[in-house]
Amino acid sequence: MTNRVDFDQYTADYNKLLQERTDFFTKDDGYFARYKVDLVKSKLKTPPRRILEYGCGIGRNISFLQKCFPEAAIVGTDISAASLDIAREDYPGVQFILEDESLSNHDTFDLIFIAGVFHHIPVIERDKVAQKLRQRLSSDGDIFIFEHNPYNPITQRIVSTCPYDDDAVLLRPKELRQRLSGAGFQVKETDYCLFVPPSLPKLIWLERYLARVPLGGQYVLHAKK
Ligand SMILES: C[S@@+](CC[C@H](N)C(=O)[O-])C[C@H]1O[C@@H](n2cnc3c(N)ncnc32)[C@H](O)[C@@H]1O
Repeated sequence: MTNRVDFDQYTADYNKLLQERTDFFTKDDGYFARYKVDLVKSKLKTPPRRILEYGCGIGRNISFLQKCFPEAAIVGTDISAASLDIAREDYPGVQFILEDESLSNHDTFDLIFIAGVFHHIPVIERDKVAQKLRQRLSSDGDIFIFEHNPYNPITQRIVSTCPYDDDAVLLRPKELRQRLSGAGFQVKETDYCLFVPPSLPKLIWLERYLARVPLGGQYVLHAKK
């Protein structure tokens, strides 16, 4: 049994720890966040009006969500109060809510965006979280969940050396699909991603053809209600 990581303890070092581990791939601090939000945007037919970033941490994805979806109202939630304090300072126009404190059960969103959160949720709580997310998705909404690819040896190494991943229990895409389906979601696709380093921008088109190859750094699950 692993002890739960308290992200309140990592707010000061979060960016540094992440950068140290991903430096070999890119020196661009915003690359991963931009990549994920751009990918989500490319899959949506209509721009969302209300977006929830569940497990938003210190807000690393927020500016990219704002840029891609300028008309949308954005809410970020997390269980780490200290992370949310930092996010609030950086993004005064965004509502940040401590998970389960004041988000009404009736609040629904057209887009739920989640990156790197599920592997921190204790296995026994994952189904409950999936059910909660389904309640928060509007009837025609879209949910995208990015997770580390447990089959990729470089990802495994990054996770095993990162102090805030001490409690990480990586999920295979099959586990995530089953949990989401079990909660009543219709899972549309699960694609591997983050194959091509940004230093080779001319090869980025290859990612589309590699989506079924279980070697990307991460994968993304897309589901509807
Ligand atoms: C690796 S960080 C990722 C933060 C952000 N999503 C990003 O991409 O930069 C994981 C975050 O998930 C949060 N978290 C863990 N369990 C959670 C839960 N059950 N509900 C909401 N957030 C959770 C942590 O507090 C932490 O901020």
